[in-house]
Amino acid sequence: MDATEWDTRYRLAREAQAGQAGRLWSAVPAQIVQDTVTPWTPGRALDLATGDGRNAIWLAGHGWTVTAVDFSAEAIGQAGTHAVEAGVSVDWQVGDATTWDPAGETFDLVTVVYLHLPEPALRTVLARAAGWLSPGGHLLVLGHDRANIGTGAPGPSDPGILYTPELLRSSIDPSSLGASRVMRCETIRRDLATDPEAPGDGAGYALDTILIATA
Ligand SMILES: C[S@@+](CC[C@H](N)C(=O)[O-])C[C@H]1O[C@@H](n2cnc3c(N)ncnc32)[C@H](O)[C@@H]1O
Repeated sequence: MDATEWDTRYRLAREAQAGQAGRLWSAVPAQIVQDTVTPWTPGRALDLATGDGRNAIWLAGHGWTVTAVDFSAEAIGQAGTHAVEAGVSVDWQVGDATTWDPAGETFDLVTVVYLHLPEPALRTVLARAAGWLSPGGHLLVLGHDRANIGTGAPGPSDPGILYTPELLRSSIDPSSLGASRVMRCETIRRDLATDPEAPGDGAGYALDTILIATA
């Protein structure tokens, strides 16, 4: 989907007051994001493909100084409204994750959550993101695993835009990215009964891929 299609999707959700009070996604991050980030000392964070901002707003509420980027201007507009409601400040930017540049800035945390792109574009995004980490900074990537297709859980059905641990790991190959180290890279179960998103059709869990790398 291009930016215009995402704009339409976000606008329709807002107008229909669909989902959770007009939101396309839940108001808070996936539990695994909260659990992973909570022990880390807040610093400067970048949320790439932020959508309507649930990860960025949660991070800002937990002491992080956050820049958040999405190519949907509608999503960024909604994110700004949600941030005001939450009483937090985020540097919202409309930009394409494959080309946006932080102009020399580095981050203690870069999050890329449920950004599903064709493989070459995803590789570009992750390789660039890993290169923006401050020493000791973390890259957290989470998305639907290719094996999720068989579970009946919600998520894209095009295997060409889904994740595998091998795809994520090889996208941030340390030999091309200096000191980045992969701390965790695996397929995980997301319990739909406790996930902030609405439960799926009969499936008890969804399959995601998570990657955590530390510079
Ligand atoms: C499934 S949503 C996830 C949003 C958010 N990360 C979250 O977890 O709630 C995917 C988002 O990626 C954005 N997106 C897709 N391709 C993009 C690109 N090339 N550059 C920036 N944003 C992109 C869409 O506009 C959409 O907001």
